[in-house]
Amino acid sequence: MSASVSRRDFGRLFAVGGSAALFADPVWARENAQAGQTPTISGTGEAFWKSVRAQFVMPADLGVLNAANLCPASRPVLEALKRESDSVDRDPSGQNRARLTGEKESLRKALASFLRVTPEEIVITRNTSEANNFVSSGLDLKAGDEVIVFHDNHPSNLTAWNEKARRFGFTVIEIPQVNPHPGMEHYINAYKKAITSKTRILTFTHLSSSVGDLFPAKELCALAREHGVMSLVDGAQSFGLLDVNLADISPDFYTGSAHKWPCGARECGVLYINARAHKNIWPSIYSAYPGAVGISRTFESFGQRDEATMIAFREALEFQTKVGRAAIEKRSRELANQLIAGLSKLPDVKVWTSPNPALNAAVVSFQPGSLNPQRLGQALYEKDKIGTAGRGGQDRGGLRASPHFYNSPEEVDRLVGAVAKYLKNGV
Ligand SMILES: Cc1ncc(COP(=O)(O)O)c(C=O)c1O
Repeated sequence: MSASVSRRDFGRLFAVGGSAALFADPVWARENAQAGQTPTISGTGEAFWKSVRAQFVMPADLGVLNAANLCPASRPVLEALKRESDSVDRDPSGQNRARLTGEKESLRKALASFLRVTPEEIVITRNTSEANNFVSSGLDLKAGDEVIVFHDNHPSNLTAWNEKARRFGFTVIEIPQVNPHPGMEHYINAYKKAITSKTRILTFTHLSSSVGDLFPAKELCALAREHGVMSLVDGAQSFGLLDVNLADISPDFYTGSAHKWPCGARECGVLYINARAHKNIWPSIYSAYPGAVGISRTFESFGQRDEATMIAFREALEFQTKVGRAAIEKRSRELANQLIAGLSKLPDVKVWTSPNPALNAAVVSFQPGSLNPQRLGQALYEKDKIGTAGRGGQDRGGLRASPHFYNSPEEVDRLVGAVAKYLKNGV
């Protein structure tokens, strides 16, 4: 609440013509008020994780294991989003918004600290798709240049390169995906063999969204540096899940989204541009309101932004830091390995994800025998209150489940039990 408009005034403002219901406090805010307190994180073991779950507004009986697609925001994030959005709508003056410039820089600092790099290397984007495309559009690539990509990349890091190759004349070399994960050495060797004197950049997905194959990010970025080649790590599935240390991995570019594993507000993201690569990349957008430091001064003139979302994103990073980043990674990976172990025991289920914990991380895909994956996914949601994602097509089709730190061993067991039931009785 800004000092100039009290909560009561705000309520009165909208209590006309039935608008009050439209602007009423959301359910979670009422729940907090009724409980007379905001739940806090405390305890140890499962009690600790229960208290973490209580920070999310998902109903207790709904187990959504779909973090690779979209994560819910926690209560502190939702509160920040609502507070800051309301503030701008109550008082959209330049004076009220002026303070928000500082908030954007504060998010930049938080992102830098979270990824263990400097604020001068951080660009605040809308999402990973945009960040990946800023790289493929922003480099001076021409006929004769080569770009090495992993075939199992997301379209924003695969189709994007192929389309820009058609436009600018450079060549894309694709590294085929192998299932099951053939081991880190396989991909290191595949990239090594593909590098030529024409290679300008190599790119891969830190953790694949298809089946959760983990990539040797540090080794591939080192390989790129040894050959004077740039590297782009698509971190959509590692940012906010793994305890990522970019100072150690040292890519030229790394990208991520707030609305996936960091559990931030929707439609915000990050593009890390290593200081050594600043000279190599052109901005794709020229507009107003640049960032205040480093590359953001020239690269981040994106026009009007939603600072409420940025403040909420910072809150999400703080929330994860409070829970413990190493603990979050450990918990999500344990749940995924529990799921792999459970599914592997079911007859006819083909698990596409490697059972080797050194090669996987919290994204699990499987073919549920001869069951129709779409119908199974629907039954799991409607009858068992479990959210998964369908993987259509011939390429390692089936269902994907991606547990995060707000999920529980019970939800994983419920999923395995329900799949077993449908395998036996049909959907
Ligand atoms: C590996 C990977 N890269 C990029 C993206 C795109 O993320 P966004 O939709 O947040 O831009 C995704 C989304 O699932 C992804 O899995």
